[in-house]
Amino acid sequence: MDRYGVFGNPIGHSKSPQIHRLFAEQTGQALSYEPLLAPLDDFSGFAREFFAHGLGANVTVPFKEEAFRLADQLTERARRAGAVNTLMKLEDGPLLGDNTDGIGLVRDLLDNAGVVLQDKRVLLLGAGGAVRGVLEPLLTQRPATLVIANRTLGKAEQLADEFGELGPVSASAFEQLQSPFDVIINGTSASLGGELPPLADSLIRSGTTFCYDMMYGAKPTPFCQWAADLGAQTRDGLGMLVEQAAAAFELWRGVRPDAVPVLTQLRQQLAG
Ligand code: ATR
Repeated sequence: MDRYGVFGNPIGHSKSPQIHRLFAEQTGQALSYEPLLAPLDDFSGFAREFFAHGLGANVTVPFKEEAFRLADQLTERARRAGAVNTLMKLEDGPLLGDNTDGIGLVRDLLDNAGVVLQDKRVLLLGAGGAVRGVLEPLLTQRPATLVIANRTLGKAEQLADEFGELGPVSASAFEQLQSPFDVIINGTSASLGGELPPLADSLIRSGTTFCYDMMYGAKPTPFCQWAADLGAQTRDGLGMLVEQAAAAFELWRGVRPDAVPVLTQLRQQLAG
């Protein structure tokens, strides 16, 4: 059986095994996909052992940067992201590192939520690994402007510098922002602690602004709740999770699964 899996630590909570098993069933592909608890002090040794027989793996917290260093070859988007969430063994042995997080976000926004990014004013909150991973695919959509806002302004400025050649990207502190945006994407980890970055209500135009949180949960995240209360359309990151998995599956198997029924099933489980 062709072997795949997801490296993480912890890994018990991962939804990836279920998602990929559903994709395999849907596309009639025979494969196994297992959660793989990698040791914190020897990710590369553990991964190399897996790839003695394994064909591909996803990579989650906290190993995406280590996977970036482990890969023998990188896709352009993984190089820009500085992180790898998908590894694939190439025919003659070397490991290819890709990053499908950004395309997962863009597909969930465009295909599943019907959001247009082209010529729009887009605000991206945060300047950590999650934001770095999605900048290139977002800029490929040619927004009119993309502002990166972060608590630590220097980190936003550095990203704006680095990605400036790809589009109209600039940096800001949260407090400086007052004018409304068409699309606001939360890539901070603030929701994890039940918190919300200090954002002016005027950033949202009721009935027009679309707000997306890369995090998700059974209940609306603090960011989605804030946005919904101000009349914005909102969506959480469960669709991004399923779409990044679909892009990885396609890379490995050459078949693109339909993310929508899998997303529906996961949403029902989460709610139940
Ligand atoms: P990840 O890989 O999830 O992006 P990270 O690299 O640690 O994790 O980045 C976390 C991001 O969330 C950062 O942008 C962080 O802001 P700082 O750069 O100022 O640390 C942001 N963040 C975390 N908690 C936050 C909070 N309570 N309010 C605002 N921003 C927060």
